Amino acid sequence: MDRTTEIREAVRERYGSLARQVLTARDDGQQAVACCGTASGCCTEATSSDTISQGLYSLDDLEGVPLKAALASLGCGNPTALAELHPGEIVLDLGSGGGIDVLLSARRVGPSGKAYGLDMTDEMLALARQNAAEAGVTNVEFLKGDIAAIPLPDASVDVIISNCVINLAVDKQAVFREAFRVLKPGGRFAVSDIVIHGGLPAALGDDAALRRDLSAWAGCIAGALTDEEYRVGLATAGFDTIELEVTRRYTLADVPPQAWLARLAPELAREVIGRFASTFVRARKPAA
Ligand SMILES: C[S@@+](CC[C@H](N)C(=O)[O-])C[C@H]1O[C@@H](n2cnc3c(N)ncnc32)[C@H](O)[C@@H]1O
Repeated sequence: MDRTTEIREAVRERYGSLARQVLTARDDGQQAVACCGTASGCCTEATSSDTISQGLYSLDDLEGVPLKAALASLGCGNPTALAELHPGEIVLDLGSGGGIDVLLSARRVGPSGKAYGLDMTDEMLALARQNAAEAGVTNVEFLKGDIAAIPLPDASVDVIISNCVINLAVDKQAVFREAFRVLKPGGRFAVSDIVIHGGLPAALGDDAALRRDLSAWAGCIAGALTDEEYRVGLATAGFDTIELEVTRRYTLADVPPQAWLARLAPELAREVIGRFASTFVRARKPAA
């Protein structure tokens, strides 16, 4: 198995398993999941001390959203609150998971608009479709596919959102290229993601062990881009008006013990975690 396939399958397995937990919780009402930071990486039982996915949505946001869509929320921001969606717009959510941001987008764009969710994990798609049916929302569609090869035509989308997914992709430049292709001229890129501000501390060196750690990758850490890499990647794809805004910073107390962090001296571990931040990334495809 090549490295790309290995990472993709580790990510798919992780999120497939989390979706199965939520789908099972439909029957017994007991379990829930929360994101980003078990001993083995992102997304664990709700008993985790992880705070990355907690408290992202207001009560107003969650009104009318099925409980299981909220429980399956595995993001690190609230892109629909920041993206300024308008009635009639077409929205695409890259890595839509249990569908919470698709449902919120559908509400904002109204019946004359449409929200697409794109995900590669069958169980997540099943959960999202179930949640949309339960919410009675009809202006949504969930597509199966890779965010690096979006199954939509050129210039067909007004706004691309995403919530803690681009860090999981192996070929980020392909994701930016595809986002640019499917956006209409003047279309907006409005994405929440984990970003490493200022890069990793020099003392960490080129931590190949971290990059090799599949659970750290699936846990939204090893694959995260630096702020500079985000700017350059988006500009290379053709975007302009690129802005990054930190929405939440972390300390070690926010992250449950993880194998790769345990290898580091406490001071360095604190510094590393201090550089990771939930970040809202905005960019625009130039108008024709
Ligand atoms: C951290 S979860 C976030 C889910 C959702 N955005 C949310 O906020 O709850 C990551 C999701 O992205 C999907 N995903 C990861 N990499 C992907 C890829 N390359 N193509 C499509 N989906 C992907 C996973 O299946 C999973 O549902």
